[in-house]
Amino acid sequence: MTEKNENILLEIKNLSVILEKSDKTSKVILDGINLTLNKKQRSALIGQSGSGKTITSRAILGLLPENMKISSGDIRFDQQIISYKNEADLENLRGKKIAMIFQEPHAALNPVFRVGTQITDVLKLNLNLNKQTAAEQAMDVLSQVGFSNPQEIYKMYPGQLSGGMAQRVLIAMALSCQPELIIADEPTSALDAITQSKILKLIFDLQEKFQFAFLIISHDIPLVKKYVADVYILKDGEIVYSGAIKKITYPNPDPYIQSLFETLPDVL
Ligand SMILES: Nc1ncnc2c1ncn2[C@@H]1O[C@H](COP(=O)(O)OP(=O)(O)OP(=O)(O)O)[C@@H](O)[C@H]1O
Ligand SMILES: [Mg+2]
Repeated sequence: MTEKNENILLEIKNLSVILEKSDKTSKVILDGINLTLNKKQRSALIGQSGSGKTITSRAILGLLPENMKISSGDIRFDQQIISYKNEADLENLRGKKIAMIFQEPHAALNPVFRVGTQITDVLKLNLNLNKQTAAEQAMDVLSQVGFSNPQEIYKMYPGQLSGGMAQRVLIAMALSCQPELIIADEPTSALDAITQSKILKLIFDLQEKFQFAFLIISHDIPLVKKYVADVYILKDGEIVYSGAIKKITYPNPDPYIQSLFETLPDVL
């Protein structure tokens, strides 16, 4: 095995996903996607609404909607093909090796449990930590995401948190098991502009510190450009560009790429 290959963390090869409709016909949702992420690498996945960004991230985690399935291709993590039929394989991957940060932080938290309980449950389940150690680690990740009062946050219910605070809690949860890869699907689009840039800066700072690989899905081209060098562009379920964001010319001969960057000529 070459040194280059050993550096690859996530490798999606020729992945197609189809939607099986009730009238027995099917629709191609992802069409032969190739995507590679090295250890510690940061990449962005962009594309118009409906182009397949969320379905790509859900396919990686084995969380496709019930009416969709992988029709060809495979996804490898650390050189191993992920077997989506093997629950043990998936449990080992989700949360422990790959963590996900979702768009709607409040929807991802359970409103009836305290923040601390939700983080320690993840730690107890995934890392087999005892109650005391899990509580200490939960407090530690809460301070890592910028809370100066982790003990207070620990005792709060999600309903007592603002959107920005809830997203910090989810980031803490994602970080807590020290995953090798974090995927964030529009992590800040439910937040106001100032909170958005603070949260994104936090995630990228944490990535430098903890060195996980990071795939961010975003509509926000200027922010992507500011923080991420490599980009994949999806159009109708196909990757139409992969490579350095700097190399994308403006104006662009491809009308689709042009449209993504259209409102922002000054950022290129
Ligand atoms: N649960 C579902 N059932 C049926 N079709 C779905 C489902 N979820 C997504 N789709 C379809 O799959 C395609 C890709 O959707 P996806 O959610 O990945 O888009 P996206 O790029 O994440 O868009 P957005 O930027 O709006 O979040 C779209 O055609 C969408 O309508
Ligand atoms: Mg989406």
